[in-house]
Formats: sequence, structure tokens, C-alpha cells
Amino acid sequence: MNHIAIFASGTGSNAKKIIEHFQSNPTIKVSLLVSNKAAAPVLDTAKANGIDQYVIDRFSFYETEEILTVFEKYDIDFVVLAGFLWLIPSYLVQAFSGRMVNIHPALLPKYGGKGMYGKNVHRAVKAAGDSESGITIHYVNEKYDDGDIVFQAKCAILSTDSAEEIAKKVLELEHRYFATVIEKILISQI
Ligand code: GRF
Repeated sequence: MNHIAIFASGTGSNAKKIIEHFQSNPTIKVSLLVSNKAAAPVLDTAKANGIDQYVIDRFSFYETEEILTVFEKYDIDFVVLAGFLWLIPSYLVQAFSGRMVNIHPALLPKYGGKGMYGKNVHRAVKAAGDSESGITIHYVNEKYDDGDIVFQAKCAILSTDSAEEIAKKVLELEHRYFATVIEKILISQI
């Protein structure tokens, strides 16, 4: 059995899709939802689906390795970042090397790095006048949005598309692909 921990601190629409995707899977289970925000809407989704949650604070995340102890309790062997903005500390990157992925709402290496999240990304794509954007699923290393790319999918952008419309197209791709890419990694098809 694979036990996944999802890190999410926002709306959690991706987390919800992933939870639903694996709900009836006999060998892959979302076992824990980690958030750095006690009031994040994603925690309600976890609760509604009977998934345990763990709210992490900055001190214990960066100054202790407490999260690894929590992971042991749940047998976590794979970590998914789905809207988690804090940089992952070295001890965690090393413990989950090749077993931790993030999703980024653009075609990396473009529009990645510190500060490039949410609306900022789509506004930058719009300002550049790009004719396409998309999603990148990548392994996590010690820098923002920098690890090896596992998967990308593209969408066309019209010159009339607003940043909000670009965001919508990109989120659709995230919902369509993220869970299946995770599944493929876990059954080693990627
Ligand atoms: C997604 O756009 C993802 O690419 C980024 O954070 C956003 C999370 O959205 N890393 P949601 O909370 O899953 O709706």
C-alpha cells in the first residue's frame, strides 16, 4: 500500500480531485493532509473525506523534523504539494528524494521561482503575450519550482484571454492530469 501525504494551504481543488481519484484504489491511499493554515478550506475537504489532518507551524517545519515523525505514524511514502507555498526544507527534500512532487500552473522553466504563484503567474504570462501556457508536475528539490520535470500539458491562450481566463484553463488541466500522473509515478510508468 502506498500512503500519500498532500500538502495544501488554499482552496484545495487539486487535493479534492486527488482524494476522489484514489478513494477506491486498493493500493494507493491519501492518508494525511498537511497544511500551514488552520483555517484553510482544504481542511474541510479532508475532514469530509475522513482524512487526518496536520497543521504545521513555521518553527516545527524549519527548526525540527517533527513532520517526519508524523509521517512514520501514517507510513507516508509519497508527498504531493498541491498549493503549498513554503519552501521545503532540506531534511524533507532528502528524506523524500524522488518521492515528492509539486504542481506549478505554468510551463516551467518559464514563470517559476519565488513569488511566482497563483495570479502572479497568470498575470506574467498575459503580460508576456504568450500564445500558450499549461502545467508542470515536477519533483521537488531545495529551490522553488526547480526539480526534474515529470509531466507537462499545454493549453492555447487567445490574445483576448484575461489572466483569470488563463487561470481557468490551467486549473482545468491540473484537475485533468495531476492525479493520474501521481498514479503513474507510483506504479512506475513514468
Ligand atoms: C494550483 O494552481 C497549483 O498549480 C498551485 O496552487 C494552486 C492550488 O489550487 N501550486 P487549489 O488550492 O488546488 O485549487
